[in-house]
Amino acid sequence: MKSELANRREFLGQAVAAGTVAAAISHARVARSQEVGRPSARKRIRVGVIGCGSVSGRYLPHLKECSFAEVVSTCDIIPERAVQRAKEFQVANHYPHIDPMLRGVPFDLLVNLTDMQEHEHLNREAIQVGRHVWSEKPIANSHAAGMELLDLARQKGVRVWGAPVVVASPQFAFMAKTLAAGVLGRVASAHADYGHTGPNWSAFFYQVGGGSMPDLGVYNLTSLTGLLGPARSVTAMTSIVTPTRHIDGKGEIEVTEEDNATVLMDHGHGVISSVQSGFNFFNPHGHEGAQESRHTISIYGSQGSMGLVGYDWEPLGVDLATEQQPLWKRHEPDAQGYVWQQGASQICECLVTGREPRMTPEHALHVVDIMCAARESQKSGRRIELTSTFPWPIVT
Ligand SMILES: NC(=O)c1ccc[n+]([C@@H]2O[C@H](COP(=O)([O-])OP(=O)(O)OC[C@H]3O[C@@H](n4cnc5c(N)ncnc54)[C@H](O)[C@@H]3O)[C@@H](O)[C@H]2O)c1
Repeated sequence: MKSELANRREFLGQAVAAGTVAAAISHARVARSQEVGRPSARKRIRVGVIGCGSVSGRYLPHLKECSFAEVVSTCDIIPERAVQRAKEFQVANHYPHIDPMLRGVPFDLLVNLTDMQEHEHLNREAIQVGRHVWSEKPIANSHAAGMELLDLARQKGVRVWGAPVVVASPQFAFMAKTLAAGVLGRVASAHADYGHTGPNWSAFFYQVGGGSMPDLGVYNLTSLTGLLGPARSVTAMTSIVTPTRHIDGKGEIEVTEEDNATVLMDHGHGVISSVQSGFNFFNPHGHEGAQESRHTISIYGSQGSMGLVGYDWEPLGVDLATEQQPLWKRHEPDAQGYVWQQGASQICECLVTGREPRMTPEHALHVVDIMCAARESQKSGRRIELTSTFPWPIVT
C-alpha cells in the first residue's frame, strides 16, 4: 500500500504537469486536511530542558511565560550551567547528564538545546523511554536516522518536532497564500541568504556535523521548500574560508566543517531556488535581526515578485509588486506575537489542545536530506536526486 506521503507526491506530480506552483498547491491541498492531533489530558506539559547554553537564555523565558508549559528540570554536561539556569528560572530540579534526568522527576517533553552533533542520540534516548521531543536543529544527522526516530516515536506513542519555526510566521503565511493564489504568475526563481561572522562561544559550530548550513542555511532551506515545495534534486558548493577560529575558553580550533555554502534546489516544476549561508558574511547589524531591512528572500514570477523584509526567523514584512500594482507594496508588517524561540512553548500548546503546528518533522528531515545532499554534491561534483518529501502545502 502506498504511504500518504507517496500519494501526495503523486498529486504534486500531476499538478506540476498542469504547470504552476499554484496548480500544484491546489491539488496537494486534499491530503493535508486529514491530519489531526489528539489533545492531552494534561493542562500543562511538564518540560525538561537539556543544554543550558546560549539559546536556553531565549527559550526559558518564553517557556516560563507559556500557560501550557511547566519547566520541571534542567540538564547540562557542564553541571554548573544546569544549576545556574534552574536558579535563574526557578526550576526545581537540575541534572548533570540525560540518564539521571530521564530516571528522575517525571516530565513529558524533552527540549533539546545541546550541540548540533548531540541531538540525534539524545532525542533517541528520550523517545525510547516515552518522552515527546522538541529539538533544536537538526533533529538527526541524516534523513534515514531521523525517519528511524519517527518510527520509534510512533511505536512509543510520542511525537517529535524540530526547529526552525519560520513557517509559523504571518509573513510566511502571506507569501504561501500569495503563491497559492497565483498572484506571481508562473514562478521561476527564488533566492535567500543568511550569514554573519560566526559564533565565538562554542567549537561545535565549526566541527564535522556542524557548519553554516545546519546552523544558518537551515532557516532559508525550510522557508523556500515550505513555499515552493519539496526539492527534487540539489547541487551545491561548500568551502572552508577561515581554517582556524578563536573560541572563548578554548583558544584556537581547527575548522573541519564548511563555513560557506551555496545550495541550488530544483523544486520540480521549472522552479529553481538558491540559498547562501556562511560564517564569513560581514553584516553591519551583526546578529541583530530586527535591524535587517533588506529582502533576505526574493521570489520571482512572470507577473509578480515578492521580497521578505528582514530575516525569515524575525520577519518585518513582505514587499509585493505585480503587473497590476508595479510599485512595491508592503504587507504583514506585524509579527502578531511570532518569535523564533517560540517552538517548545508552541509544542506544549499543541500537545494540550491537539491543534497541529505548521511545523512537521518530515519537513525538518527533508531539509536535513537537502543539507546531506549538498555535502555529497560538493564531494562528488554531481547533482543529487532526492526522494524525501513532507506534507505540503503548509498553509492553504
Ligand atoms: N545561540 C543561539 O542564538 C541559537 C539560536 C537558534 C538556534 N540555536 C541552536 O541551539 C543549539 C545550541 O546552541 P547554543 O548556541 O545554545 O550552544 P551552546 O554551546 O551555548 O550550548 C549548548 C549546551 O549544550 C550542552 N551540552 C552539549 N552536549 C550535551 C549533552 N550530551 N548533554 C547535556 N548537555 C550537553 C553544552 O555543555 C552547552 O552548555 C544548536 O543546535 C544551535 O544551532 C542557537
